[in-house]
Amino acid sequence: MSFKEELALHTAQAEDILKKYLPAEEGLQKTVLEAMNYSALAGGKRLRPILMQETFRLFGGEGEIIEPFMAAIEMIHTSSLVHDDLPAMDGDEYRRGKKTTWVQYGEDMAILAGDGLMIFAFEAASEAFAILKRDGLGGDMAERIGECIRILANRTGIYGMIGGQTVDVEMTGKSLDENQLYYIYAEKTGALLQASMTIGAVLAGASEEDVKTVGEAAKKIGLAFQIQDDILDLTSTTEELGKPVGSDEKNEKTTYVTLHGLTASAAKVKEISEEAISALQELPGENPFLMELVRSLITRRK
Ligand code: IPE
Ligand code: IPE
Ligand code: MG
Ligand code: MG
Ligand code: MG
Repeated sequence: MSFKEELALHTAQAEDILKKYLPAEEGLQKTVLEAMNYSALAGGKRLRPILMQETFRLFGGEGEIIEPFMAAIEMIHTSSLVHDDLPAMDGDEYRRGKKTTWVQYGEDMAILAGDGLMIFAFEAASEAFAILKRDGLGGDMAERIGECIRILANRTGIYGMIGGQTVDVEMTGKSLDENQLYYIYAEKTGALLQASMTIGAVLAGASEEDVKTVGEAAKKIGLAFQIQDDILDLTSTTEELGKPVGSDEKNEKTTYVTLHGLTASAAKVKEISEEAISALQELPGENPFLMELVRSLITRRK
């Protein structure tokens, strides 16, 4: 199987797992459930659940225990996009090739759908305990699940993604120094990628030291991913990207690209991605697909 075929397969599998955990659209609160599913099923690369599962496999992880966390991370990521697109934030009207949630369902429902996805993700993740019980998994698996829920909360919240988004919106239209920019990228984007990969490692039983290495590599992947996102905001098309180009300029965002230019930004993406790959290659275990996936992000066009 080629890398492209393998990626398509893993994307479809991640999507099926997500579908299994999304809520049924019934009850008096049906509208918010529809809005949640609309955003979550609009498409998307499913990069975070795939990275999670491949890191789990890198450390020899097997079985369904990873699945609730794969669904949870994609729900949280989607919630961050739903809120990021709101008029009070980036004010964008397209996402994943469709109208954004607030355009489709109104701002009120988009706020609630984002909240709904973010918190339902933790209900989904907690299903790992049911799998533990059903499959009679012993050892320290219950502790691993608990630690993964902690990582999910930490990397999503005020010390992670929400922290990064806070500084991002607060500094809109202002000039940033390198330190502030680094914080924004490491948290608004890097944090959920870190959660994805470290949860894969922890759940597979990786050592503390290896989990730390994975976390540092994931942070670099996150930085590279956001710089590439900024490059594509300038150089891609709405059709290819499935979201508006020129969003950063419209919102007067200082980005790595506005500070350093396109050429240096592309070089930076390559440099830190390769650092991340080298660090991952030092780890025990092998996963050529994971390495190729990270490498493919350097030249991604969407
Ligand atoms: C977009 O993330 C938001 C950023 C953190 C840059 P993705 O590029 O992974 O978006 P989807 O999930 O594929 O739509
Ligand atoms: C994304 O930053 C960060 C989060 C959604 C957490 P951007 O605002 O650059 O993401 P896009 O370009 O809208 O996807
Ligand atoms: Mg934004
Ligand atoms: Mg945005
Ligand atoms: Mg962007």
